[in-house]
Amino acid sequence: MEPGAFVLAEAFADDPLMSYFWPRTQRRRRALPLFWSSRIASRRRNGLVDLAYDAEGKLACVALWEPAGVVSSMAKPLTLLRATGRGTVRVLAAARQLDQARHGTPQWYLAAIGTLPRAQGRGLAAQLIQRRLPSAGQPCFLIANSRDLVPFYQRFGFEPQGALPIGHGPVVYPMVRT
Ligand SMILES: CC(C)(COP(=O)(O)OP(=O)(O)OC[C@H]1O[C@@H](n2cnc3c(N)ncnc32)[C@H](O)[C@@H]1OP(=O)(O)O)[C@@H](O)C(=O)NCCC(=O)NCCS
Repeated sequence: MEPGAFVLAEAFADDPLMSYFWPRTQRRRRALPLFWSSRIASRRRNGLVDLAYDAEGKLACVALWEPAGVVSSMAKPLTLLRATGRGTVRVLAAARQLDQARHGTPQWYLAAIGTLPRAQGRGLAAQLIQRRLPSAGQPCFLIANSRDLVPFYQRFGFEPQGALPIGHGPVVYPMVRT
């Protein structure tokens, strides 16, 4: 398992998109570490994996980026398939929608960020976002998985670009920082 997989699994335990992929709580709990392990491995291969630690030195926040011009290939496909199981078609359809929303201008992509619930509100996510924004020097893109997250990203200069309904699931919010 990639370091960081359990951090993102815990951070995203009740996320609307993850709940659409795995509606049953127990199933989601088992799937998320596998899912995030694959996603982290992809960015380790093509992209950036940024980590932040709590006051005791324990890993508590993970951010996954793709620099402009980089689209990460799929790593650990079997792990991902184990995670998605019978929901594979749904996950792939959603991934296609998310990719299409990103398509176009060369821009940095903040693919995911999550902080352990017990470590939230201590500036860890802000630290990781701010570490990359100045070096990006180009537009940055992300997708907020719920309307509640839009104000969080606005703090860093991202602006919503409309609303995107994912299949029969949640509405997500593409955002750009120019
Ligand atoms: C969103 C998330 C990454 C923020 O992580 P965090 O480490 O708690 O964030 P920070 O402590 O760096 O917060 C920075 C600032 O944003 C504020 N903030 C946090 N969540 C916010 C929200 N939803 N809306 C507005 N402001 C928010 C904090 O209060 C803090 O303000 P301050 O600097 O004035 O104290 C975290 O809540 C999380 O992991 N959520 C679950 C996973 C998730 O939804 N990820 C994003 C998917 S698109």
